[in-house]
Amino acid sequence: MHIGILTGGGDCPGLNAVIRAVTLALVKEAGARVTGIERGFLGLIERRSRPLDAAAVVGILAQGGTILGTHNKANPFHYFGAQGADVSDQAIAYARELGLDGLVAIGGDGTMAIAHKIALRGLPVVGVPKTIDNDLPLTERSFGFDSAVAVVAEALDRLETTARSHGRVMIAETMGRYAGWIALEGGMAGGADVILLPECPYDLEAVAARCREREADGGCTLICVAEGAKPEGGEWVVARTVVDSPDPLRLGGVAAVLAHQLQDMIKSEVRSTLLGHVQRGGSPTPFDRVLATRFGWHAAQLVRQRQWDRMVALQHGEITSVPLALVADRNRPVPPDHPLLQAALGLGVCIGR
Ligand code: F6P
Repeated sequence: MHIGILTGGGDCPGLNAVIRAVTLALVKEAGARVTGIERGFLGLIERRSRPLDAAAVVGILAQGGTILGTHNKANPFHYFGAQGADVSDQAIAYARELGLDGLVAIGGDGTMAIAHKIALRGLPVVGVPKTIDNDLPLTERSFGFDSAVAVVAEALDRLETTARSHGRVMIAETMGRYAGWIALEGGMAGGADVILLPECPYDLEAVAARCREREADGGCTLICVAEGAKPEGGEWVVARTVVDSPDPLRLGGVAAVLAHQLQDMIKSEVRSTLLGHVQRGGSPTPFDRVLATRFGWHAAQLVRQRQWDRMVALQHGEITSVPLALVADRNRPVPPDHPLLQAALGLGVCIGR
């Protein structure tokens, strides 16, 4: 058996832990050959790969990023290097030339969508859910999320001490695209007074009122805002457009906009901090190392059992798998009745209403 592995879309902590687990499980348990495809689907298109074995994955468990490299635009069905041409035949031909019996694709919704289309074209695929945003459907967690939340919690801890010293309002902006998971969990872990999510458009006056309440109590205010949060009836703040990306909008800047608006409505000084790619870098947390390892081992079992066109998933704390077709191009917002959101409301956290 000869299996390819690739990492697609944005990087995140834990990718190397999955590469390691898939490689070790396939080599040691199945005596398989493993080939790493470089820079996501770009490697299949541009014929870039390298052999992986037990020695190649030594010491990578705790390493951030991906040893294989990744790409957030390379789509064989819409290749940016050839003005949107369908070069999937070329990609599949390279996989056949390598003698691959199947592919393990580690990525987010875009990668899963491509993986499903590739599987329908006859190259068997197993998917592994990656994203710090935690917004993939049918899995309670994607690896990378816990590491991002840890960064947000630490940032809020640090912002709180300086906010308290000056009696300021501090706003931290998290990533997460159109889902508020990082802001919700990071905000709760960091004790934020206000948490603003894309799923609950906010009323600026309600946010200002909470800051004034805190002023009246002689306290500072910590606000954790998701990059996808927007005011009632308002729009997202877009940092840039990445032409040829499956989702061209890059959100960013809502914290600065909010700071500017709030400053005119309250007495305290307001400052904003954009956490940005710091949330995606560095070593995975122990939770993510273990989740990524479990996902990787399970993906290898699916490969061995030839259960193709499926993505490994975490459901009720157990690793299972779901059809790629049900995951491709979909995402998972924070539901209004989510227990952590209910707890936040119960504890008096302002969610902008
Ligand atoms: O999907 C992961 C993510 O980090 C989002 O939270 C963020 O909006 C986006 O990727 C940033 O993408 P890029 O690295 O292309 O700026």
